[in-house]
Amino acid sequence: MVSTFPHASTVSLKNVRLEIRALQPQLVEWRRQIHQKPELGFQEKITAEFISQKLQNWGIEHQTGIAKTGIVAIIKGTKPGNGKVLAIRADMDALPIQEENEVTYCSQYDGVMHACGHDGHTAIALGTAYYLHQHRQDFRGTVKIIFQPAEEGPGGAEPMIAAGVLNNPDVDAIIGLHLWNNLPLGTVGVRAGALMAAVELFRCTIFGKGGHGAIPHQTVDSVVVAAQIVTALQTIVSRNVNPIDSAVVTVGELHAGTTVNVIADTARMGGTVRYFNPDLANFFKERIQQIIAGICQSHGAKYDLDYIHLYPPVINDAEIAALVRSVAEDVIETPIGIVPECQTMGGEDMSFFLEKVPGCYFFLGSANPEKKLDYPHHHPRFDFDETALPMGVEIFVRCTEKFFE
Ligand code: NI
Repeated sequence: MVSTFPHASTVSLKNVRLEIRALQPQLVEWRRQIHQKPELGFQEKITAEFISQKLQNWGIEHQTGIAKTGIVAIIKGTKPGNGKVLAIRADMDALPIQEENEVTYCSQYDGVMHACGHDGHTAIALGTAYYLHQHRQDFRGTVKIIFQPAEEGPGGAEPMIAAGVLNNPDVDAIIGLHLWNNLPLGTVGVRAGALMAAVELFRCTIFGKGGHGAIPHQTVDSVVVAAQIVTALQTIVSRNVNPIDSAVVTVGELHAGTTVNVIADTARMGGTVRYFNPDLANFFKERIQQIIAGICQSHGAKYDLDYIHLYPPVINDAEIAALVRSVAEDVIETPIGIVPECQTMGGEDMSFFLEKVPGCYFFLGSANPEKKLDYPHHHPRFDFDETALPMGVEIFVRCTEKFFE
């Protein structure tokens, strides 16, 4: 029999949505306030104070000064039942970029800008904290909201974990989102397994023997050695990595020499490595070192290699990804909806949390070309459609309620 009355749970879901959409003006206001005072990693003092003040006004228990500027808020559901713990993570740092947008809420600081949307992440996390605190009678379990510094580098996730944010009470699962201008507003990119790549960096100096440009036999030409290394490094992905695995080796820096008729004594190069498969964690460092050592040896050059494993790949847990996906399917009402094959070779230190506890990181589409809000992340004109803010809150809130069910 078809009822003419909506199902009870549909009514309550609609109420959740209406109530969260009503938060839109506040979400926009918070986001813009944070946007005007962008701060670089581990310097998020004004941002942290802003967050702490709001949490305090709302009566939400929280701890400040974790890993310098990080904050953890704790919201305990009052519905009787199991005591699971869900963490929601937001990053809050800006980038060393001069903003070129001409908007009323433009960055007030020279050379610093929220050009990645972390101002939006912070506003979404605040909105989520506010809503869940107001509705703590609707869920059982504990929510930890983690406001993390320095995602853009050198990385705030690791020191926050070291400071114990995943313990006491122990976190069972973690979720987080990135506003994403590579996807249109009204879409969510979510998948099980690898979502974002590992980030590794290397810097190498080649020591040859300089001399006259016309008398090469008396020298060890660091330019020739460096050129061979750059070319040979490209064979790692094409010849050594299983073609089923995706990977990138990019040499982004190469410096040598001072003038046209002098053979350069030293050459410096640097690059980045990206991959999804965690089994490759030590592979690239080893292979790069072998190639550099072999080529240098064959030319009589010496080298110095500095290799940094910055972030591991972002790997989503299948179960939590399915939960986020099912919620997002309800929240997102556009026909494009869910984009399951959304992956990027960009990196994120959310990966450190996901190495410790199962969880899901996902992309919330935020581009709107009609409003010219479709510049890429890290661009001086980056901005996003703020209509995405309540969508983010609704996904977090409903994931929370569903997780504790
Ligand atoms: Ni970002």
